[in-house]
Amino acid sequence: MKKFPNDFLWGVATASYQIEGAAHEDGRTSSIWDDFARTPGRVYEGHTGDVACDHYHRYPEDVQLMKELGVQAYRFSISWPRIFPEKGVINPEGFTFYRRLITELKEQGIQPAATIYHWDLPSWAQAEGGWTNRETVGHFLQYAQALFQEFGDEIPVWITHNEPWCAAFLGYGEGVHAPGHRNWREALAASHHLLLSHGLAVQAYRDMGLQGQIGITLNFTPTDAATSSPEDVAAAARWDGYANRWFVEPLFKGVYPADMVAWFEGQVGSFDFLQPGDLATIAVPIDFLGVNYYSRNVSKQGTEHELLQVDFQEGGGPVTDMGWEVHPQSLLQLLRRLEAEYVGRLPLYITENGAAYPDSLTDGAVHDEDRISYLQQHLEVCQQFVAEGGNLQGYYVWSFLDNFEWAFGYSKRFGIVYVDYETQERFPKDSARWFAETIGNNGVKV
Ligand code: NOJ
Repeated sequence: MKKFPNDFLWGVATASYQIEGAAHEDGRTSSIWDDFARTPGRVYEGHTGDVACDHYHRYPEDVQLMKELGVQAYRFSISWPRIFPEKGVINPEGFTFYRRLITELKEQGIQPAATIYHWDLPSWAQAEGGWTNRETVGHFLQYAQALFQEFGDEIPVWITHNEPWCAAFLGYGEGVHAPGHRNWREALAASHHLLLSHGLAVQAYRDMGLQGQIGITLNFTPTDAATSSPEDVAAAARWDGYANRWFVEPLFKGVYPADMVAWFEGQVGSFDFLQPGDLATIAVPIDFLGVNYYSRNVSKQGTEHELLQVDFQEGGGPVTDMGWEVHPQSLLQLLRRLEAEYVGRLPLYITENGAAYPDSLTDGAVHDEDRISYLQQHLEVCQQFVAEGGNLQGYYVWSFLDNFEWAFGYSKRFGIVYVDYETQERFPKDSARWFAETIGNNGVKV
């Protein structure tokens, strides 16, 4: 048995648009994901989050199930258009749902960890340019302040943003996430405004004298060069700059990576969205860094990714249903690098790790050996990192439930609990039982 420290936190994670459903209830207006999902050809077979896992109505049952599994913390996100269905207008019924959820969690002894923004920007904000418009930063601050006011004493852990890389670059650059734009100037402006809004929200949290912890969650894709040729090494460094350094560097060093600024300015034009003082705001101290890790990349010089001039190569290891290579060793390297180069002794949390596999339900059971093996291997390296002195304080599985996997709709199942979307029945998979046992042992069996 490889043990974790006694106070290591074991959690599960979800996000509002992916599980809640009730898309038109109690005053909620649409978000960019409602709009995107309704645009033909954007989401697999036209799936939407209208019903999703119906968690909005089934949250007591879901929290009960978490309790049965021994889960200690639940990371969920708050739906911005439930709280602000229109610009500047608060909807009290939006608060009601989350208050009930938090009460339920408290009753079951589960610690809430709230993500303020997990990609469901209100459509009214997108109508004004969304994250490309600096005004959205102010709207986000108003939204965050309203949440702190309402739930600041109730929720001990806050995550300003989830994976701003995806929100900015997949949403405004690659066009595969909402709002589906393909414009790199917009994408870079969006990345900056997301970061700026993070810094302002953290300052507001401090100004209110709240006692919990506040941080941000970034996704990382460690990148290896396909060969040792100077071109491929440079290509991998670019991909690393784009996928990993672009957000973590301003947060912890107060600057955008110089090599990437030069590259982007050469390709896209000058950074006119950057204003004096912004970088200091972005680098305001936080209480932890949330790390989402799924896989690595192997990159070389090429044209597949036009902006970065990068091609991708298979890593050679087994892949999940997303086609992502299972590569736990890269998680260990990532954690070591974050500590050595960026965060020092600041607490790290794995806020997401998990895998999609084509699960099937037979007689009420799902034998997801591949997922167990994925989780086991990644937890082993987490334990190794902790054993060598790394300050990793908790681990949240993505995801508690099968859910709406963005552009892939319901076709990809990440849950440790299977959802039968016809009946909305929940079936803990073998991995859920395995996770419960792991929590009970506070360690991984080897
Ligand atoms: C990252 C995102 O935060 C989450 O919403 C998504 O479902 C998982 N990764 C899996 O792709």
